Amino acid sequence: MQQIFSPVSFGRLKLRNRIAMAPMTRRKAKKDGIPTPEIIEYYRRRAQGEVGLIISEGTGIDSFHAYDTLTVPRFESDEQLEGWKKVVDAIHEEGSAFAPQLWHTGRYAHNPIGPSACEMPPKADGTSRPSVQEMNEHHFAQVINAYIEAAKNAEAIGCDAIEIHGAHGYLLDSFVSPVTNKRQDQYGGSLENRIRFPIEVATAVRGAVSEDFPIIYRFSQWQLADYNQIKFSNPQQLELWVTALKNAGVDILHVSTYDATVPGFPEVDSHKTLCGWARELSGLPCIAVGKVTVSLTFNNAYGEEQDQVASPQPAFDLVENNEADLIAVGRALIANPNWVQIVKRGEWQQLRPFHKDLLKDLV
Ligand SMILES: Cc1cc2nc3c(=O)[nH]c(=O)nc-3n(C[C@H](O)[C@H](O)[C@H](O)COP(=O)(O)O)c2cc1C
Repeated sequence: MQQIFSPVSFGRLKLRNRIAMAPMTRRKAKKDGIPTPEIIEYYRRRAQGEVGLIISEGTGIDSFHAYDTLTVPRFESDEQLEGWKKVVDAIHEEGSAFAPQLWHTGRYAHNPIGPSACEMPPKADGTSRPSVQEMNEHHFAQVINAYIEAAKNAEAIGCDAIEIHGAHGYLLDSFVSPVTNKRQDQYGGSLENRIRFPIEVATAVRGAVSEDFPIIYRFSQWQLADYNQIKFSNPQQLELWVTALKNAGVDILHVSTYDATVPGFPEVDSHKTLCGWARELSGLPCIAVGKVTVSLTFNNAYGEEQDQVASPQPAFDLVENNEADLIAVGRALIANPNWVQIVKRGEWQQLRPFHKDLLKDLV
């Protein structure tokens, strides 16, 4: 049997196989931010389908700034946490593990904050967005506290790990990027300074949960507003970042790319993926993601072009070749709750192709 379908443990995180569900925002909560019975069953179906690690959609960590719309389920009040506890229990009943993705949308929030003040482009529907406020000391403390509380609550309700959303242009990522971080103080300028706040968050979270409670950190080169953005221009810069994450006490890196198999620094190595580089440079277990059993990259998935299913083998080879420890599957798991079972039977050609219309309901 291929390694991908064999069990694996990272400290106390024990997984039935090496497949993760990628975090995917669905905006299906009611305005109270509580996971509904439909949301609970949506996650249960992926656990019944034998996904090893289910990472939740991004979930807002506080009611001041952290989320962008009220239909994003949140991770703050007792009622919201009770809803997530039902998700945890449903997933455990089916034999899988669960990590909520702790999300601060930063510049995209309903009450936006970021490293630097700026104006944001209008939303897709044409409505304008409020101006972004530059974070002051009060905001720094408030965000760190929100991450601490969310992480502690995740452990308390029985989650198997947490994922800190440090990717895609949201709050923590917007500090790392020189495009969105124009600060002149110790949080801006050099890469060492730009990573300071995300590392402070990771360090604070590590200190707030049990020593062995697994912390996953998701990062990306790309941002939503700039799909081609590069934050780490060479392996040396990536090494500085992933080493700092490791020293902060992060246990697993989730390397968000459009295509798990493309080289991270093609001018240095024509094969090694960004995940492979992160794994080698940090010595940490790493999750690869992007375009597994789909043909269109994520940024091209919402047009009229019809997706085609593709072989999972190139992604599985990353595990065989020690470039990745886990493979996260996104859109293909929206289209196929029982993706793992179908692929394990060798029937990947039977997978339902992803289509944007599948996002309308929680199938
Ligand atoms: C509908 C949708 C919602 C997403 N929401 C999130 C999110 O909340 N957090 C996050 O880190 N990534 C999010 N992503 C990115 C996915 O986690 C994943 O990285 C991306 O879809 C590439 O994987 P795929 O090619 O297997 O779909 C989202 C993607 C999709 C399609």
